[in-house]
Amino acid sequence: MSQAKLFFMPTRIVHGLGSIAAVVTQARAAGGTKACVCTDAGLTSAGVTARVTDLLNEAEFPYVLFDQVEEDPGVRTVAAGVDVFKAEGCDLVIALGGGSPMCAGKGIALVAANGGVLTDYEGFNKAAKAPYPVIAVPTTAGSGTEVSKVTILTDEARSFKMSILDERTYPTVAILDGGLMESLPAWPALVAGMDALAHALDAVWSVGATDFSDGLAAASAATILQSLPKAALTGHLGAKQRMLEASTMANMATGTSLPGLAHVLSQPLGRLHLSHGLATGIMLPYAMEFNLPVASAKIAPVARLLGEQGDDAELAESVLFRLWDLMDAVGFPTTLDPAVVTDDEIPLLVEQCTKVVNYRLNVRNASPADLERLYRKALAKE
Ligand SMILES: [Fe+2]
Repeated sequence: MSQAKLFFMPTRIVHGLGSIAAVVTQARAAGGTKACVCTDAGLTSAGVTARVTDLLNEAEFPYVLFDQVEEDPGVRTVAAGVDVFKAEGCDLVIALGGGSPMCAGKGIALVAANGGVLTDYEGFNKAAKAPYPVIAVPTTAGSGTEVSKVTILTDEARSFKMSILDERTYPTVAILDGGLMESLPAWPALVAGMDALAHALDAVWSVGATDFSDGLAAASAATILQSLPKAALTGHLGAKQRMLEASTMANMATGTSLPGLAHVLSQPLGRLHLSHGLATGIMLPYAMEFNLPVASAKIAPVARLLGEQGDDAELAESVLFRLWDLMDAVGFPTTLDPAVVTDDEIPLLVEQCTKVVNYRLNVRNASPADLERLYRKALAKE
């Protein structure tokens, strides 16, 4: 029987403070002659878009600005972006922003190359042709979509966040420049950062973990535990750069191993209008506590990277303590709000967890009774 596993991540990563200066070189190397700069109006008014368009202007690299991407964009925005892309004769997308503009940019490149509408590509490998090249430039450290084959966009007609999974939708290039996070406020930086930490740790305790994903995930988790407060709450650019790179590494890990229990528990909470990063961050320590009895040897390397010594059980527990301390230090909620997650909701939340695609991927099987107990713990912080 074959034991073959796969690690595949074709995105070229350019990283470091000031690395946005490489955008024109990378656009030309990707074969682009005219870019559609896909972003949101907030980044344009904050001056972040100009950090890219100034470089394009200087190099006389043709582009059109499409900065109409809203929060949770979907079919309509992608169709509008495709119209602009085609009318202007573009052959490259520069997707600048958090998860929303980056996923919209990936969607535009896909639909512009293949025709039809976004919903035609929902699911696995539906596109006949490769998308136009995409240069992804994250301005938050969390979504990881700059190195992901997954594109998440909303179908407004169904009020449904759909997933497009295709190995050809990995961005061609990711440019990781923490300097672009200079004006990011603390709260979105914290929410994104906790999601990134959950990507790293959910990769560690996934049954799909391999030595490749483990190495990336442990290094990412250790860096985030150290860097998140400084990166989110101060103007320290070095810490922002470390967070950005750690977030990308976390998604390289979880993209191969697929995420475990924290993401399973958080997914149904979206229905109650908790943002993904907030829900995942709150559930993360409870997921870790549940996994400690079977996963201490997998979690311990995170503590070793932070210079701690001890046996696996002690070290894994110390990672949990560090997580609680981090959440307290930055003022991130550690409990679910009982006014939002009421008692009546719990049976449905549990049922929805069991239908999440990665439900069976957690290293310790969580029964419906376990899931209920975890939600109740998160409500009461028992
Ligand atoms: Fe996530």
